[in-house]
Amino acid sequence: MSLRLGDIAPDYTAQTTEGEISFHKYLGDSWGVLFSHPADYTPVCTTELGRTAALKAEFAARNVKVLAVSVDGLDNHKSWVHDINETQKVTVDFPIIADPDRNVATLYDMIHPNASENFTIRSLFIIGPDKKVKLIITYPASTGRNFVEVLRVIDSLQLTANYSVATPVDWKAGEDVIVVPAVSTEDAIKKFPKGVKVIKPYLRYTPQPNL
Ligand code: BEZ
Repeated sequence: MSLRLGDIAPDYTAQTTEGEISFHKYLGDSWGVLFSHPADYTPVCTTELGRTAALKAEFAARNVKVLAVSVDGLDNHKSWVHDINETQKVTVDFPIIADPDRNVATLYDMIHPNASENFTIRSLFIIGPDKKVKLIITYPASTGRNFVEVLRVIDSLQLTANYSVATPVDWKAGEDVIVVPAVSTEDAIKKFPKGVKVIKPYLRYTPQPNL
């Protein structure tokens, strides 16, 4: 059965380029990003894993642990990492899960047989410290994902978790955010000392509270 937002992210133990990992234990109190790619030694995947490595400090600043997965084996992963490091000018040191028996791919419904019988598509899950699935995105094999968008969603999710605000269309870090409907305007005025702009009773903005 496919996963839905709010479900507990399935736990598993897997071999990875950083050793054996038990997923929930590995995440601990961190947020997690688990993403699949179709295969090792493919061009789009090489750029995606390179970008993920280059964004290491951005993920760390948000308390996010990143894991990649494909149905390739550990030896392939390890030698492909040399190519990624060489061509993308990075050091990949996040775990890449070897999933030749498709255990993780099956748990997370990452193989869509009508797209490919044999390979994982580009699935990406953001998982909260409560181990619940917060975001699911699914891209075709031929389209590399936008990891700046992934960071933007993490920022939005963390603002919601910590400050009871939501983020409007095309929001970027630093811009005004939206007071969630569950907070009354009276309470919002107390909660957000930088001010609350009431456009409609249901549409209220406040400066990003954690700046
Ligand atoms: C790639 O990662 O480069 C790729 C994988 C499958 C189909 C097309 C591109």
